[in-house]
Amino acid sequence: MTQLNRLQLQHFRNAAHIHCQLSPGLNLFVGDNAAGKTSLIEAIWLLATGRSFRTRQAQHLIQHSQTETTIFAEVCSSLHPERINRIGMQRQNGAMSLRLNGESVRSQSEIAQQIPVQLLTPESHRLLEEGPKARRQFMDWGCFYQFPEFIQYWRQHKRILKQRNHALKKRLPADQVQLWDQHLVATSEHIDQMRRNYLQALTPYLEEFCLALMPELSESVHCHYRSGWPKATEDLLQLMQQNFAKDLQLGHTQYGSHRADIRFKFGTQEAMQILSRGQQKLFVCALMLAQAKLHQQVAEEPVIMLIDDLPAELDEFHRLKLLQLLRELGIQHLVTSTALGLIPVLDKNTSKAWKIDQGALNELEI
Ligand SMILES: Nc1ncnc2c1ncn2[C@@H]1O[C@H](COP(=O)(O)OP(=O)(O)O)[C@@H](O)[C@H]1O
Ligand SMILES: [Mg+2]
Repeated sequence: MTQLNRLQLQHFRNAAHIHCQLSPGLNLFVGDNAAGKTSLIEAIWLLATGRSFRTRQAQHLIQHSQTETTIFAEVCSSLHPERINRIGMQRQNGAMSLRLNGESVRSQSEIAQQIPVQLLTPESHRLLEEGPKARRQFMDWGCFYQFPEFIQYWRQHKRILKQRNHALKKRLPADQVQLWDQHLVATSEHIDQMRRNYLQALTPYLEEFCLALMPELSESVHCHYRSGWPKATEDLLQLMQQNFAKDLQLGHTQYGSHRADIRFKFGTQEAMQILSRGQQKLFVCALMLAQAKLHQQVAEEPVIMLIDDLPAELDEFHRLKLLQLLRELGIQHLVTSTALGLIPVLDKNTSKAWKIDQGALNELEI
């Protein structure tokens, strides 16, 4: 299911009301600083994932002096355009409701299943720079779409870990902490296997897009997956039990799939050591494109790509290259920029552009 054909926002950040009919290729939103470009991208990401990439507090999303915001999209299958899903989210301060084709939906994952979106923002290089959480989210995005059972293990793991950590913090007797260990080991091992398989399937695509975007690199890329427990461990349950005293002292569980990570290497060098800032951004683009292409192979539907402030991300040559790759892959993309001339329009028939000003859209001739 993966083309947005209609988007409607009501009282979202500085946008009182936005309504647009999107095109299947490039959708370009052009505006000055503070026009509302990032907000538009944020709204779609929020609808698809339930999370904003800028705030945890709903009150910041709702237009000042309003009490609620709604985001609505019509999503269609690119293979079967007659299959249309209507997806809506309404947020009040402290409350949220989701609807799919007029019916109330309880879980965000049902919505996510309908709109696989990927996001590139000027902060995306954090995927390499910061702690492992962003890299786990990256793997888990792929596992979620690739393995239908993934979400169930992921949720179980989260719940059990919370209980175990709670018991550790409360310094409950050992048997009340260790009661969770077997479950935690089981979910960790399931999640571990899926992440491993996912990264293995992803690597050839990552190599392909690293080569396309950074042909200057002499070594090819490798993903070194870390489980979240020492490599040589034969019995995770035993390891957890041996480390109980340390867990108690720390007040949290040291080993398990919640501590997994990926290290990206070119030859023997860490990606962060060898890549320039510009190349780090290209590497993140290659990661997104690799995920997108693998997703397309598995789900037989493309993803939707959101790119905030493309000129801040890439130079002219690489902007063109990225847009060409997206077009070849048949991926609908929503792109923001401060100027129209900075974004090449490769195919007028599948592209549209709007001027955005104070949260309002006006379609532009391209
Ligand atoms: N809840 C809100 N209500 C009204 N305006 C808001 C709200 N949140 C942010 N804004 C304003 O919306 C404007 C657009 O922000 P943003 O989307 O980041 O712009 P851009 O990405 O185009 O630079 C900013 O001026 C910001 O102050
Ligand atoms: Mg912005």
